[in-house]
Amino acid sequence: MSTNIPKAELHCHIEGAAPTDLVQEQALKYGVDIDHLIEGKRFVWNDFTSFLTAYDAAAALFRSQEDYALLAERYLESIARQGAIYSEIFISPDHARLAGLEPQAYVDGLGEGIRRATQKHGIEGRMIITCVRHFSPDAAIDVARFAAGRPHPLVTGFGMGGDERIGSHADFARAFDIARDAGLGITTHAGEIVGPESVLDALDHVRPSRIGHGVRAIEDRAVVERLVRDGIVLEVCPGSNVSLAVYDSLENHPFPALREAGVQVTLNSDDPPFFDTSLGEEYETAQKIFGLSDQELRDITRTALKSAFVDEDTRAALLAKL
Ligand code: ADE
Ligand code: ZN
Repeated sequence: MSTNIPKAELHCHIEGAAPTDLVQEQALKYGVDIDHLIEGKRFVWNDFTSFLTAYDAAAALFRSQEDYALLAERYLESIARQGAIYSEIFISPDHARLAGLEPQAYVDGLGEGIRRATQKHGIEGRMIITCVRHFSPDAAIDVARFAAGRPHPLVTGFGMGGDERIGSHADFARAFDIARDAGLGITTHAGEIVGPESVLDALDHVRPSRIGHGVRAIEDRAVVERLVRDGIVLEVCPGSNVSLAVYDSLENHPFPALREAGVQVTLNSDDPPFFDTSLGEEYETAQKIFGLSDQELRDITRTALKSAFVDEDTRAALLAKL
């Protein structure tokens, strides 16, 4: 229904975007038993901790440059069919290394997948290199140094995912400084599993222009006001939040309240097959459950493009498509 609305996605973890059938193909290719990982057409997990474990297990089945090219190509193709004109994918050199692939080959593979999708479908893509919070601050510094070396022209941002319940953003300030000094855009996960204090922690220590999720800011009016005042854009992922039981239903999701408070919000799928969602479905939800009009959906896309980590010529060309 909303296919004809141009869409943009700022928050999708590429390893978490692998559909179960592709993961099954990979398991067959490498002779790995994944009975514990997939049941029917679903990934097996039941809370945030077991989700992160399942995510790592799926990621471990992508092992070559071409595996990642195929993954990126298929994902971008799928959202281009849903009307996406722009996509930023979160990528994790730590996961590639765990799967036995050097970070440069990983980035080159993903870059090739993006190139193929752009050529076939016109969708524009960029990569945000992420460190993993529950690995370690030292590992994060290594990842930031790699990102700061600008390993591919489509790498334009740096961020952090992983278990928000561990440590503080202060532990990762050095990694973010390295990335920021190299001119990369900065985003980080906060206010997803942990409350508004986590959003403040991120703002105070790593100065992001965007926050992944950030939705639990709604629990503290002062934090919401700070997001508005500082013009911080939230990468909101409603389907993910309901799947991970941050909220019990889409009807009780704070997307409308954040928007009404003047926070700049965007729509994203996070790890679509894990959460039984897609970018298109998130836009549908915004229309059907949150009551946004077609024009308001276009405004969401405009917010995403304005805060995208992309050069100004590309931004202008994308905005012209709205
Ligand atoms: N990595 C992949 N998905 C994530 C999420 N929803 N939160 C934190 N880290 C993640
Ligand atoms: Zn995420």
